[in-house]
Amino acid sequence: MDTLNISGYGDDLTINGVRIGDLGPAEHEAIELEKGGQNYSPLENVVVSEVLDSSTLICRKPDPAGIKAYIEEELVDGLCCYSAVNQGQLNKIIVDAVIAHLRDEKIPTVPRSIRHKYMAAFLMAVTAITKMDKVVPKVAGVEAPELMAKLSRRWGYRIKGIPANEAIIIVAKENFHGRSLFAISASTDPMSREDFGPFLPGIESVPFNDIEALRKVFEAKGDKIASFIVEPIQGEAGVIVPDLDYFPQVEALCKKHNILLCVDEVQTGFARTGANFAHQLFNIKPDLMACGKAAGGGIMPVSFVAGRKEVIDVLTPGSEGSTFGGFPLASVTAVFAIKAMVDQDLAKNAREMGARLQGHYAKIKAEFPGKIKEGRGAGLLTAFEMYDKPGLDGHVVSVKLLEKGVYAKETHKTIVRLAPALTITAEGIDKIGKAIREVISEL
Ligand SMILES: Cc1ncc(COP(=O)(O)O)c(C=O)c1O
Repeated sequence: MDTLNISGYGDDLTINGVRIGDLGPAEHEAIELEKGGQNYSPLENVVVSEVLDSSTLICRKPDPAGIKAYIEEELVDGLCCYSAVNQGQLNKIIVDAVIAHLRDEKIPTVPRSIRHKYMAAFLMAVTAITKMDKVVPKVAGVEAPELMAKLSRRWGYRIKGIPANEAIIIVAKENFHGRSLFAISASTDPMSREDFGPFLPGIESVPFNDIEALRKVFEAKGDKIASFIVEPIQGEAGVIVPDLDYFPQVEALCKKHNILLCVDEVQTGFARTGANFAHQLFNIKPDLMACGKAAGGGIMPVSFVAGRKEVIDVLTPGSEGSTFGGFPLASVTAVFAIKAMVDQDLAKNAREMGARLQGHYAKIKAEFPGKIKEGRGAGLLTAFEMYDKPGLDGHVVSVKLLEKGVYAKETHKTIVRLAPALTITAEGIDKIGKAIREVISEL
């Protein structure tokens, strides 16, 4: 006898008699606690049910009257899935293409061992927008820096001539490259590493935005260093923007020592920072670039590594691959995610709306100089930092912002990141600014 009965759709979706539309926030939380891994701590008392428009989520919250299972409220999305939805929720250009693809073209899935006609489109679009020679598709964001590490090592042995198994990869302290074993081996965050060792050897870290530290390690060990893997702006670390002259100097040092410069643009790419790719803000040309998140327009997980021919060409059949990397639906989604970014000039809106948000931070800092230390960012990758004082707590700010209809999340105790969709309007930005001001005034 079947023990599982699935019926309905949307709110009527019913699993073994439990209708999803009947569950309040507390019940969702209880099911997640009982049946899910506890690797996240989502904001309490809120469940997203759908989107209203490109920057507005509809959320279910407890009914204050205690009569209904929940009430529904609008939330301005100040995070857009950690920059996975730069093009805005359900961007029409991407959604129309995906629906047409499934309905009319009817070729969602074939493996890479047989060619499909959309791979060519994907390769042409990505190489054109990134101005790189070649590209390798992957799926999750973390897979792209992971592949940069593999490419670096193989290039190091086969092209640079590093003795077998002695390649070193340099990373920046406080980095975030995801959750794979390479990424946590590269991480300096104790929480992500505890009891997951032993870690990958051959990874060393230097402080971010410290050219002398990089020079020192390159001079000491340059012969064995294959690459420097680094985010152009450190996102998870709290939106840390380096000095303008840091990356040009990094690029020059890498050239001098024949070391690959590999940028992780999983979070900073796809117009987020006001340039199509953040390294362009610093006028540099990396050897490899990892992209993810908004590469799939918030519709599909799509990631890739784009880079110089000499480096990508170290891959040989059997050395690398992924069942869903570049499958037809992902290829189409990525092409239209790029089209949306270009046709809607999202980099320009990121610059304009980013400046507007920074204007709000400046005003709030001027009004509350004892509370706000700094507002910072590039384009619409922004954060404000509070002083580390009693009562100034990023999590409390996130919870209070939620009460005022804005979704944002702290990155550290005193830092709150705001990175809304790049389609956001001036009204949306002003709503965020007003809510932050009110919250800060109440702390
Ligand atoms: C710079 C950077 N690299 C890699 C990742 C990992 O991406 P994913 O969570 O999609 O695996 C992230 C995610 O936040 C990121 O910010």
